[in-house]
Amino acid sequence: GKGEYDHFMLKEINEQPTALAQALEGRIDPDTGRIALSDFEPGTFEDIESVQFVACGTSYHAALYGSLALNQAGVQSTALLANEYSVSAPPIDDDTLVVAVTQSGETADTLNALRHAADEGASTVTVTNVVGSTAAREADEALFIRAGPEIGVAATKTFSSQAVMLTLLGQRIAADQRGDPSADRSSLLAELAAMPDAIEDMLAVSDAEAIADQYANSQSYFFIGRGLGFSVALEGALKFKEITYEHAEGFASGELKHGPLALVTPDTPVFAVFTGEEDEKTLKNAEEAQTRGAPVIAVCPADHRAVEVADEHLEIPETDSDLAGLLANVQLQLVSYYAADLLDRPIDKPRNLAKSVTVE
Ligand code: F6R
Repeated sequence: GKGEYDHFMLKEINEQPTALAQALEGRIDPDTGRIALSDFEPGTFEDIESVQFVACGTSYHAALYGSLALNQAGVQSTALLANEYSVSAPPIDDDTLVVAVTQSGETADTLNALRHAADEGASTVTVTNVVGSTAAREADEALFIRAGPEIGVAATKTFSSQAVMLTLLGQRIAADQRGDPSADRSSLLAELAAMPDAIEDMLAVSDAEAIADQYANSQSYFFIGRGLGFSVALEGALKFKEITYEHAEGFASGELKHGPLALVTPDTPVFAVFTGEEDEKTLKNAEEAQTRGAPVIAVCPADHRAVEVADEHLEIPETDSDLAGLLANVQLQLVSYYAADLLDRPIDKPRNLAKSVTVE
């Protein structure tokens, strides 16, 4: 049941420290501090030349997160919408690894993409929450995120668990490609191990409810970010529209001036996600919105320069730049939750949506 919580969504947001601890359990060797993925021993991916992630919705945003992190680690990778894959997949061969990211493991679009990839000769991995799901059974290998059951239709803890598992998998692939399987980024792995506590601390003092309160009844809600922060901006907006029924959109920070700025008014709050990737540019983009009267809510650590510039601040703990977006996303989940609650929406079961989408 929901226990002390009014909704499963809030319960599941608060379960993230536990979910991530479960995801990480036994997967970072406590003695060496290195990745220990039992099905993916060092060297597993040494022949892989490129990685394609396929997924839908929130899982696509996690896939984008994983793909951008992999690119930054020097591995050629793309994230593709599974429902576009049959018409727009880049060339696939037996040096291609295709990673299906699907919480349920039953999403028809994602299964189709996985089957297409296998037909073309790719190696396949499924990252999923459901042991025994179709995607887990059909891929060459499966990596389970162990988030526990997610009842709310809006995916929350599974996004975070996917992001963590894709970070670990990505580091394994990058180390294999460098031909130095033991060259894990130990500082990143240490910060990963610290994620459950970091989220716990952040949840205990979040200002998300006050911010949702303050900006309720705005006309539209915009979310901007760069790099990994861009995937978080997309996810922040999807969650917001899904459960509040208000208009929300996510943009790459730098794209704001290429069109969307025409929509920016004092009635369109802008959530700016700072993940350490060219933050000065993102801040400048946020200031452009501010000049048009839009309130800017900076999602960043306490000592970040954006705090002085922005109208409001949602604080995230200091961490590795690969993980800051994950923390920012948790704050945005809370903003969506409280905004939807104020509007009295059926948070756990938004209209027209289903937890598992088994049609094309
Ligand atoms: C949004 C949401 C959906 C799913 C999408 C894919 O909150 O939950 O966008 O992420 O339908 O589902 P899975 O991950 O089961 O493939």
